[in-house]
Amino acid sequence: MNGFIYNIPTKVYFGDHLNMLAPELKKFGKRVLLTYGGGSIKQSGLYNRIVGEIKKAGLELHELSGIEPNPRIESVRRGVNMCKKNEIDVILAVGGGSVLDASKFMAAGAKVDFDPWLFLSEKRPVKKALPLITVLTLSATGSEMDGGGVITNLKTNEKLGRADDLLRPKVSFLDPALTYTVSRFQTAAGAADILSHIMEEYFTTEPDLYMLDGIMETLMKTVIKYAPVALDDPENEEARANLMWASSWAINGFITGGKTHEWSVHPMEHELSAFYDITHGLGLAILTPRWLKYCLNKNTMPRICQFGINVLGISSQLAPALVAKRAIDQLSDFLFKTLKLDRTLTEIGIGDKDFKQMAQKATRGGVIEGFIPLNADDVEKIYEMCL
Ligand code: NZQ
Ligand code: ZN
Repeated sequence: MNGFIYNIPTKVYFGDHLNMLAPELKKFGKRVLLTYGGGSIKQSGLYNRIVGEIKKAGLELHELSGIEPNPRIESVRRGVNMCKKNEIDVILAVGGGSVLDASKFMAAGAKVDFDPWLFLSEKRPVKKALPLITVLTLSATGSEMDGGGVITNLKTNEKLGRADDLLRPKVSFLDPALTYTVSRFQTAAGAADILSHIMEEYFTTEPDLYMLDGIMETLMKTVIKYAPVALDDPENEEARANLMWASSWAINGFITGGKTHEWSVHPMEHELSAFYDITHGLGLAILTPRWLKYCLNKNTMPRICQFGINVLGISSQLAPALVAKRAIDQLSDFLFKTLKLDRTLTEIGIGDKDFKQMAQKATRGGVIEGFIPLNADDVEKIYEMCL
């Protein structure tokens, strides 16, 4: 195995601890920018509760609403301007991954004189950032505990990601009850996203730690067990809590260990979202089984079999080729039958016209060094398998 650095400094309040929100905000100053999306927090009553806590504590409240799913760079720019104009001390992001991601680049953008898009397009260094506190309302991206963020620029058809430790939230409030109102579709897409974050790490031919394999397998089993429960019974506390904590641990860096391979499905999906503005988790669900099928060979088969046996409960007595095939089929059934996500790109109105360009962009004209190496031709073939 390779060595690695483990550093996850986000303080987590799990459960109903919103009474601690104002004391945590106060540690960073008086002027708070509250950021949120299209209004779900108003419908659920969360907005009133949060504003109440902030006002009771005598903090100065500024608000930025309307952050889109697949957040746009224009929203980030609006936030940066507000931070600068109002000398904001701390950003409070309340919502799903889109609100959290946009807020991360507002936090960094507030500290520089250049356009925040350059953090993504040119990977300009993040040297400072405003402190960020989050209240998560959707279990999916893990943005509540990671340093990553993904921003869309519709003018250039680009959806670009970037991670930096300075972008990690200082504090995250994770209350599973705040996810009871998440729609069936977003719950399913979120589950597919969590699964994909784990699979991107798990499906590797690099040797790493046995204990991390076990943890990843348990995390995947957790999603497979509890996502259907949350779909049938949205206010099931046990299901929502398990999904929420799994989402954070899937991508906060812990399961990476010393692995160095690149993620494959996420870059392919980000092109789908960039070109067609689709929900991230849905794109991942459509791509993942096809990608695994494309990757299946003599070298990758043992890992796919391990997944089939340890996560999906397939008999180890069967021939490896059969186990691997069944594993991919069962994964498809979970995504498309149990979670009821659309099975093909055709079903969501996407044809092959942009595949070549998307494949070039996903591979940045080179090779994704993932479970198997993928060049643009490979990626194009995988997109075609999704039609
Ligand atoms: O905007 P509002 O009104 O809040 O509604 C949202 C939105 O329409 C709604 N929602 C959120 N919480 C809700 C709720 N509706 C009812 N009740 C609640 N409690 O759900 C819709 C989708 O929200 P969004 O934030 O877009 O979803 P998600 O959390 O899946 O975030 C997706 C974004 O995160 C990026 C994705 O690419 C995508 O842009 N990712 C971020 C990552 C990271 N930071 O590390 C990694 C991921 O792989 C991913 O790429
Ligand atoms: Zn993801």
